[in-house]
Amino acid sequence: MVPTMGNLHDGHVELVRRAKTDCDVVVTTLFVNPLQFGENEDLESYPRTFEADCRILETLGVETLFCPTTETMYPRGHTLQTATIVPELGNTLCGENRPGHFDGVTTVVTKLFNLVQPDKAYFGEKDWQQLAIIRKLVFDLNFPIDTIGVATVRTHDNLALSSRNQYLSESERRLAPQLYRQLCSVRDSIQAGNTDYSSEEEKAMNALSALGFRPDYVGVRDADTLDYPRGNSDNLRIFGAAYLGRARLIDNVPVGLA
Ligand code: PAF
Repeated sequence: MVPTMGNLHDGHVELVRRAKTDCDVVVTTLFVNPLQFGENEDLESYPRTFEADCRILETLGVETLFCPTTETMYPRGHTLQTATIVPELGNTLCGENRPGHFDGVTTVVTKLFNLVQPDKAYFGEKDWQQLAIIRKLVFDLNFPIDTIGVATVRTHDNLALSSRNQYLSESERRLAPQLYRQLCSVRDSIQAGNTDYSSEEEKAMNALSALGFRPDYVGVRDADTLDYPRGNSDNLRIFGAAYLGRARLIDNVPVGLA
């Protein structure tokens, strides 16, 4: 199963390709899940490109597309319903500024898992926090599913592909890869032996602000637990989120401590 909210780009294509390589039958789901959008977020304007998505999936040889309506997924409305939550991973980083977002993701993913009953499910590493949360959901609730993370697909200038990139104006688009560059500077500094993570985070936040972003956070964390690094953690990842115009961009890079 390859769960998506549609508006497919090469990042999704990579997920489907991996699934097609590993599995006999691939089910792609397409559902713009209202439960994971905050009140002032882009649910209404989220790009919906159903016909184009179908053509891409046909070209990739996907047998089944499951694209339920909101009424099918939430027949009794989507407030005050049963939910699945992964609190210790869902309330940090993006969860701090998007309260309830990951509860919406885990709830819809639980429902999609139950409806589709896949053996394997594919998620992009661009949304690393989402991937970590889903791995925990699968483990804690004993879903018999392999959760597979697929490497972020980037443009020639290293912008992580995202449906929200189309909110960027031409000048914002030129600036956007700076998020990745700032995360890479933090990575390079840590790889060079710097362990003052908070000063590196602050430096990157300041650099992003000076460039014209409205940074949400830059955080050095344990890649699996998303905790603040303790002692000599050799499993660090650097996470960042920042607004540029009306687009909220997120990205993350691993720290290789050889
Ligand atoms: O990553 C996404 O596109 C969504 O969060 C997902 C996993 C399809 C759930 O709505």
